[in-house]
Amino acid sequence: MVIELFQLNPLTAAEAERICLWRYGPGWTLYDFGPGDLPAIAAPAAMSHGVRRGEVLAGLASFGAGARVPGGSYRQPALDIGCSMAPELVGHGLGRAFVGAVVGFAWRRFQPPRLRLVVPADNRRAIRVYQANGFVAGERFAGMLRGGIRPFLQMVCVTPAA
Ligand SMILES: CC(C)(COP(=O)(O)OP(=O)(O)OC[C@H]1O[C@@H](n2cnc3c(N)ncnc32)[C@H](O)[C@@H]1OP(=O)(O)O)[C@@H](O)C(=O)NCCC(=O)NCCS
Repeated sequence: MVIELFQLNPLTAAEAERICLWRYGPGWTLYDFGPGDLPAIAAPAAMSHGVRRGEVLAGLASFGAGARVPGGSYRQPALDIGCSMAPELVGHGLGRAFVGAVVGFAWRRFQPPRLRLVVPADNRRAIRVYQANGFVAGERFAGMLRGGIRPFLQMVCVTPAA
C-alpha cells in the first residue's frame, strides 16, 4: 500500500481564510495572499482544494478557470492547474512531492486530455519542480498578476506519471 505524503480535499471556509494570511517573505512577496484573494479562492469555479499533510494545511490547489492568468493562451483543451505551498513548508525539498500530489489528483479526478499551468518566467524554483513532474515548457506570454504585467511561461503535461 502506498501512503501519500499529501492529500487533497475540497477547501473549507476556515482554510480559505487562513490562506489569505500566507506571506512568503523577502524576494517572494509577489506570491503573498491577502484578504482580497478570498472571493477568488472561495469561488466554485476555482475548484479550490486544500492540500493537507496529515492534519496540517500544506497548500492550496485550484483547477480549471480559476487557475488561469489573463493574457495566456487557452485554446487547447486542457485542465488548468495552480498550486501554492504554505510558506512554512517552502524550501525544504518537499516541492516535487507536493506538486506530484496535486498533479496525480488532477489526472485521477478530472481525467483531462492534458494538464496546463502558467508560472512567472523568473520562478526557476517552481519551473524546476514542474519539470520534475513531467511538465514541458510551452509558449511565453505577458500575463497579468497582482495588477502588473510580467513575463509568464506556459507549461504542459501530456501523460500521467507511470
Ligand atoms: C513552487 C513550490 C511548490 C516549490 O516547493 P519548494 O519547497 O520551495 O521547493 P524545493 O525546496 O523542493 O526545491 C525545488 C527545487 O528548486 C531548487 N531551488 C530552490 N530554490 C531555488 C531558487 N531560488 N532558484 C532556482 N532553484 C531553486 C531546489 O534546489 C530544488 O531542486 P532539485 O529538485 O533539483 O533538488 C513552492 O515554492 C511554492 O509553492 N511556493 C509558493 C510561491 C510559488 O512559487 N508559487 C508558484 C506559482 S506558479
